[in-house]
Amino acid sequence: MASYTIRQATDSDLDRLVELSLALREHVEASNPRLWRLAPEGVARLRQEIEETLSNPDALLLVAVGPDDRPLGMATGQIRTRPGHVPSLSGYIARVFVEPACRGQGLASALVEGLCTFFAERDVQDLSLGWVLGNREAEDYWTGLGFLPIIVLADATRHDVEAKLAAIRSRRSTDGSL
Ligand SMILES: CC(C)(COP(=O)(O)OP(=O)(O)OC[C@H]1O[C@@H](n2cnc3c(N)ncnc32)[C@H](O)[C@@H]1OP(=O)(O)O)[C@@H](O)C(=O)NCCC(=O)NCCS
Repeated sequence: MASYTIRQATDSDLDRLVELSLALREHVEASNPRLWRLAPEGVARLRQEIEETLSNPDALLLVAVGPDDRPLGMATGQIRTRPGHVPSLSGYIARVFVEPACRGQGLASALVEGLCTFFAERDVQDLSLGWVLGNREAEDYWTGLGFLPIIVLADATRHDVEAKLAAIRSRRSTDGSL
């Protein structure tokens, strides 16, 4: 059983946060071959995004660290406003990853609990997040916490869509309905 504590991430964790984010990316890309791949320039962007999160007052990046203070897992929470919608305030959870050797020991739950405290302090009632279809670990974990899917992001090539539209058009013209 790993012994760990939860703390806020700092700039000195940056290299490790990039490492964990790349491992998460590798995990989700392996879960679904249709997913957009991270291009080499995306790695530099990833570092920049993490730096922005660390300095964003509306975001909280937590890490679960071992006795040597090395991050073994991470989770990000972000306050999102949706003007003109109900609810107009929501808490978005992203970039949740636990080192494979440390899974099943409550690290993710402790991280998510920490995010919930942050959201409660900001009076956020509604929580949302996304997972990639095929990422069974994420699906099982999040549905276990009560998250239910509401939107499907679908992907096709324009060529395939045009071919299907041509087939529909040709069916309709042969049966006289166009
Ligand atoms: C999903 C993930 C973050 C869970 O981390 P974890 O530290 O192992 O989770 P916890 O130990 O806190 O699990 C708490 C509970 O969640 C449930 N759970 C966790 N992983 C699960 C899994 N793979 N399948 C089913 N239930 C799971 C269990 O009920 C568990 O309680 P239990 O140990 O008493 O049975 C981790 O497996 C991971 O990093 N996966 C790869 C990255 C990923 O998919 N991240 C989510 C991106 S959206």
